Order: sequence, then C-alpha cells, then structure tokens
Amino acid sequence: MIKVSRFITLDNFITKQENFHPGASGEFTSFMHDLTFAVRLIAREVRRAGINDIIGLTDEVNVHGEQVKKLDIIANEIIIKSMNHTGKLAVMASEENEELIQIPSKYPKGKYVLVFDPLDGSSNIDVNVTIGTIFGLYKRVTKSDEECNVDDVLQKGYKQIASGYALYGSSTVFVYTTGNGVNAFTYDPTVGEFILSYEGITIPERGKYYSTNEGNSYKWSEQFKKYINYLKEKSEDGFRPYSARYIGSGVADIHRTLLYGGIFAYPSDKSNPNGKLRLVYECNPLAMLIEQAGGMATNGKERILDIQPKNIHERSPLYLGSKYDVEECMAFLNDNK
Ligand code: AHG
Ligand code: MN
Ligand code: MN
Repeated sequence: MIKVSRFITLDNFITKQENFHPGASGEFTSFMHDLTFAVRLIAREVRRAGINDIIGLTDEVNVHGEQVKKLDIIANEIIIKSMNHTGKLAVMASEENEELIQIPSKYPKGKYVLVFDPLDGSSNIDVNVTIGTIFGLYKRVTKSDEECNVDDVLQKGYKQIASGYALYGSSTVFVYTTGNGVNAFTYDPTVGEFILSYEGITIPERGKYYSTNEGNSYKWSEQFKKYINYLKEKSEDGFRPYSARYIGSGVADIHRTLLYGGIFAYPSDKSNPNGKLRLVYECNPLAMLIEQAGGMATNGKERILDIQPKNIHERSPLYLGSKYDVEECMAFLNDNK
C-alpha cells in the first residue's frame, strides 16, 4: 500500500488522467463529478441520520422482500436525481428498483450505464456502523436512438469501464478504478473536497483475516466448513490461525480486505445455492476493484467478471480477496486439499 506524496483533489486527479487519453471528451470526468456530488449528499444524510430522527424502518419492502430503511430510499433518490438529468447516462439500475431506471424524456441521454447499490450494509444504519454506496459503470450496447433495455445492464463485469464505492465510516472515503489501478480519496468536509489518500492500492498477497457470516455455518458445504476450520488451526509457520472479522456491511468488510488482505466470502449454502449478494451491483463492481488491486474474485467455479448476468437482481456466491487466500479456498471447495 502506497500512501500519497502529493496533495490533489479527486476532480483534478480525474481530469489529469483523462488528459492522458487523446480523444477523451471529458464526459467521464463530468460523470464522476456528478456521482461524487451524490455521494456527498448521501454522506450528509448518513451523518445527520440520528439528529433528524430519520433512523428506522419504513413500511416498504424492496424487490428482495426485505424491509427497507429510510436511508436506503433517500440514498436511492439522491443518486437518481443527481444523475438522471446530466446527459451522461443512458439508463440506470439500482438495488431498490425492480426495473431499469430510464432517463426521463425531458432530459438528454448519454452513453453510460450506471448500476448501483445506494446503501450497502443497511442493517448497520441504526447502530452507527460503517455503510457504503457501490457503483459500476458500463457503456450502453443499444444504439443511441433506441430505447435502452436490460441488455445495457446485463453485461459481463469485465466490461465495466469503472467501478468503486463510497464508505461512510469514521470519514467518508471514495475508492474507484477505471481499469488502471485503484485509488482512494478521503472527504475533507472543511474544504468540501475529496483528497487523494491512497494511490495505486495493492491488496496483500496473503492476509490474516477471514470474513464470513459463521452463523450460517450449519448450512455450509462440508468443503467450506473444512476450509474455515483449517484457517482456525495453528500452523507451524505461524501464519494460522487467522482472525475473524465480520461487520455485515459487505462494502466495509471488503474495504478492510482490500487494505489488509485475507478473504471475504458469502458462499453458496444448502438453502441459498446462489449465496446472498447481487451480481450486477455488488459482486461485479467489487470484483473489478479487487482484481485491479491484484486480488481475486470468484463464485467458486468461475471468475465473477466472466459471468453472464441473466437478470438485474440475480445473486451470486462471492469469494474475494488476496490471491493466495482465494486460491486456497478454491482448492478446498474443489476437494483438492
Ligand atoms: P444491503 O444492505 O445492500 O441489502 O446489503 C447487505 C449485504 C452486504 O452488505 C453484507 O455483506 C451482507 O448483506 C450481510 O449479510 P448477512 O447479514 O446475511 O451476513
Ligand atoms: Mn448491498
Ligand atoms: Mn443496499
């Protein structure tokens, strides 16, 4: 992990990168400007949640049959209303909307497709624990004079042109990649800017943490049980036992995994053969980021980024993290260990 040796804002950083690409139109810079504006608005709502008494459940249930918290809805609206009029997007898909989010006809359309989880880790809202926003960006595949359809959203993850997340923790951090490494920016509310805080992040080749919901272990496969038990045994070389870390906000668990290494797993199990996390707006963006940092992300059989999504809200098992750890986990899942 390299700390920065220069002071630069996110806006300037992106502009300079776009200047390296002859023919770049500045549209990506402008998209990121709009997205990080939305992130700032969400951060403000998250910080004020207790004060404004907006914490608590609404009566609504989202497309997955889960009770939605007010902040999920607020964050969803903030992103839609910050992005739908800018002329940069062709269509959007969100965890909180069953169908595609089309751009209203009164606004111009652009070439990008935005997929997002407006608030990840929402069970942690009421207890002041870190939550986040996840996004992935594609280019549309439909023609510019056509109505967008699900083909624009159901693209393989490796086709993302950018992905990342915002974390609303002790500070607000924005981490993203455009397929050329991973950089992190920390929001300084006193100057109103995201400032580069980690440049060229690489995930350690092996970590000492495993992150999975052990409350589900009664329904895990024998192979996955064996792997987790193995991590808890003491080894001669002193590398094991690993320590357990599980926040229950995927984005926060994966942020720690990115910086400290190890493995994050939301496996398939006997009652959920596809695990829990959603392929399009959770697994794919996080998988691209972790791969860009030198790590690995798989569903246990194939690379996450190579999976053809079949619907917007489909789920996928996810094993993600340091290369050594994910490969070792796969060896267990394939009965090679
Ligand atoms: P969301 O809040 O967007 O619905 O996502 C919750 C996800 C993810 O953040 C986390 O990794 C996972 O749910 C935790 O699930 P368990 O409570 O089943 O461990
Ligand atoms: Mn989520
Ligand atoms: Mn969510």
